[in-house]
Amino acid sequence: MTTMKRRDFLKQAACTSALLLTSRSPLFAANQPCKIEVLLDEPIGTISPDIYGHFAEHIGGVIYDGIWVGEGSSIPNYAGMRKSLVDHMRRLNPSVVRWPGGCFADSYNWRDGVGPRYQRPTRPNFWINTRFLQEAPDGPAKYDPNEFGTDEFIAFCRLINAQPYLAANVRSASARDFYEWIEYCNAPAGSTTLARQREANGCRDPFKVRFWGVGNESWGCGGDFTPQEYATEFRRFTSWVPNFDTPPQFIAAGPNSWDETWTRGFFEALTRRSRGLLDRVYGWGLHYYCGTAGKSALAFGTEAWYELLRKAAAMERLIDNHWTAMGEFDSDHHVKLAIDEWGAWHPAGTEVHRTHLFGQTSTLRDALVAALTLDIFNRNADKVIMANIAQLVNNLQSLFLAHEDQFIVTPNYHVFEMYSAHQNGQSVRTVFSAPEVGQGENTLPGLAGSASLHGKRLVLTVVNPSTTETRETQITISRATVRDVAVRALSHDDLRAHNSFANPDAVVPRDSSARVTGADLVYAFPPASVVRMTVALA
Ligand code: AHR
Repeated sequence: MTTMKRRDFLKQAACTSALLLTSRSPLFAANQPCKIEVLLDEPIGTISPDIYGHFAEHIGGVIYDGIWVGEGSSIPNYAGMRKSLVDHMRRLNPSVVRWPGGCFADSYNWRDGVGPRYQRPTRPNFWINTRFLQEAPDGPAKYDPNEFGTDEFIAFCRLINAQPYLAANVRSASARDFYEWIEYCNAPAGSTTLARQREANGCRDPFKVRFWGVGNESWGCGGDFTPQEYATEFRRFTSWVPNFDTPPQFIAAGPNSWDETWTRGFFEALTRRSRGLLDRVYGWGLHYYCGTAGKSALAFGTEAWYELLRKAAAMERLIDNHWTAMGEFDSDHHVKLAIDEWGAWHPAGTEVHRTHLFGQTSTLRDALVAALTLDIFNRNADKVIMANIAQLVNNLQSLFLAHEDQFIVTPNYHVFEMYSAHQNGQSVRTVFSAPEVGQGENTLPGLAGSASLHGKRLVLTVVNPSTTETRETQITISRATVRDVAVRALSHDDLRAHNSFANPDAVVPRDSSARVTGADLVYAFPPASVVRMTVALA
């Protein structure tokens, strides 16, 4: 911890010369310094650790070349799992991982992926007909060897200390396939034929899988259902499922981004049958990709910088919209949101290998997308029970890039590493006052973030989206006195900065310093930055 001199603070220009109103703040007056007010007596809810969840689909280079390198590989591994990826995941408290899809889930037969590996069938991958893969060389991205199946996925989750979240096939498999998969995973040792099969495959004890997705994007690749048809499927798939010692928590396939018709249609159809059926829904699985802006993940200007961040920030309105729609049928809000796919989605061209469908190189801009989004989840801790960034490695907004023996972490990884400090904290309302940035429809609040309380420790994370302005900011924490503060900041002079196999540490967080002034804090948030402050309270 270091401190900033008071005269440096006073020397800084005031934040604005105009009267401005930020989305969450009172009127922002001329010549006022930027302000953050943490309101400890306005709790929002406990931040579910599962908000910091992940997603790994059998797609492109996520499983093969990403996680799974095989037991006989010269690449260092734990029972076939890439060692460097596992070691990095362990530092994040990853909490939960969703698998095997995505769209792939609704073509997957779980039986293909259990038993002796050499006997497992090779199947065409769900994504084989994409133009990208048609132009790519043959390999596991096109023809899935099923070397990585349920047992391997559970082993991966155990290695990284995460809960498994299995997404079941509703489009092309039966309800029986679904409950038999649950039986294979969760039936007590020796109790049934499938429990004995699991034991013969090397896993005597039940996996105790709690989270079960009932289909994926059932409005699209998951079956082209109407919401009413999907509600019928959901009821059928979740009726009289054996409980074993692990009551399943079902995540229903929710809407595509802004489609409230899907949300209302499903909830109306489900509750028309019986309101009690809401008890079967643990999470409503919202998917939101904020897309892209500019020419590519790496080629964009200032305008596209703000455009993408503005689209990412729209997550807050999206949550509000669906929450309101759900409340029309579920007034107690028994069902919470599981945002089980989110992230930026850039055009092809920056992937690290020709087989990595949807692979992209993440820059500092994507790190800000991740931080803005995680802050929104924290601020909505009363509504969001789980979230899974898409996807873990070699895909859309990934934490890692890997090919053969090469491996790097992306700036997104650093954001997760910084933000995991929020897990299990009490989210508290925090007011940010700063001049807006961007232009026209791509205007954003000048500072955004979230705060969580963990006993006498406060974690505050803040994004400064301005491409040029340092924000000298006074931070007050109601009812508390600051004893000490540690600051970590992720930023770079180049908005397009990213890590690569040749330069793996181009974007890394660094320790920084804030000044403690009486009960308050003063910090200069650098332009284009993500900052975490860990504050010890007296
Ligand atoms: O994450 C890539 C794909 O995006 C998933 O398979 C699908 O669910 C979504 O449309």
